[in-house]
Amino acid sequence: MRTKDVIIALDFPSKAETLAFLDRFPAGEKPFVKIGMELFYAEGPDMVREIKARGHKIFLDLKLHDIPNTVKRAMASLSRLDVDLVNLHAAGGSEMMRAALEGLTRPDGTRPLLIAVTQLTSTNAETLKNELLIPVPMEETVLSYAKNAAGSGLDGIVCSPLEAAKVKEVCGEDFLTVTPGIRFADSAAGDQKRIMTPEKAGKSGCDLIVVGRPITQAEDPVAAYRRTVREFIG
Ligand code: C5P
Repeated sequence: MRTKDVIIALDFPSKAETLAFLDRFPAGEKPFVKIGMELFYAEGPDMVREIKARGHKIFLDLKLHDIPNTVKRAMASLSRLDVDLVNLHAAGGSEMMRAALEGLTRPDGTRPLLIAVTQLTSTNAETLKNELLIPVPMEETVLSYAKNAAGSGLDGIVCSPLEAAKVKEVCGEDFLTVTPGIRFADSAAGDQKRIMTPEKAGKSGCDLIVVGRPITQAEDPVAAYRRTVREFIG
C-alpha cells in the first residue's frame, strides 16, 4: 500500500447515510475510506466489517492513547477487524507505540499499517506553552514526535501537507505521510486553515491524502473523488 492514494473521510452520523454515500459509486469503484470516532462510536465494529466486505480499504481513525498494555490489547481487537490503517497519539510515548505494534501483529505476521498523530491541528502555540507546558516551538514537537514514531517502528504520521516534505527529510522517504487539509483551488476551505490542493500535495511528499467535505458535500461526489485522484496522482 505504499503508493499514493486518496482516502475519503466518511464523516457521517449514521450507517444509513454512509452506505447511501458509498452506493453512489459504481460497483467496480472502491475508494479507500476513513472511519472516525463519530461513526465508529455510533455504529460499532459491524459497520467496519460491512464496509470491508464491500471491498473498501479502511483507515480506522480512533487515535488511541492509554497505558501500553491497554493499547496493545485494543490494537489486537482492531487488527481482527481486518482494517488497513490505524492510528494512535505519539504523545503516549515510545513504549506505548511499540506495544501497539505488538498488539496489531496477527498470528500470521501480517498487520494493518500504524501511524501516529503528533500535535492536533486544534492545538495552537499558546495552548502548547500555557496548558501543555511544552516550551519548544510547535514544529520542533511535531518533528520530535515523528522521530519517536519512526524509532518505535511505526509506518508514518498524520501531518499537514505543509509539513510532509520536512517529515520525509527527517524520518526517511519510506515514512508515510497521511495528510488532511486538502482543498480544490476553487472550493471553500471550511474550518481548515493550513490547506493545499491535491495537485500541490502530490508534489509535496504526501503519500495518502484524506479528503472529506470537498467530496462528501459535492453535488456529484463521484466526480469530485475522480477529480481528486486525477489531480493528486496525475
Ligand atoms: O472535510 P475535511 O476534508 O476537512 O475532512 C478532513 C478529515 O480529516 C476529517 O475527518 C478530520 O477530522 C480529519 N483530520 C483533520 N486534521 C487533522 C486530523 C484529522 O482534518 N489534523
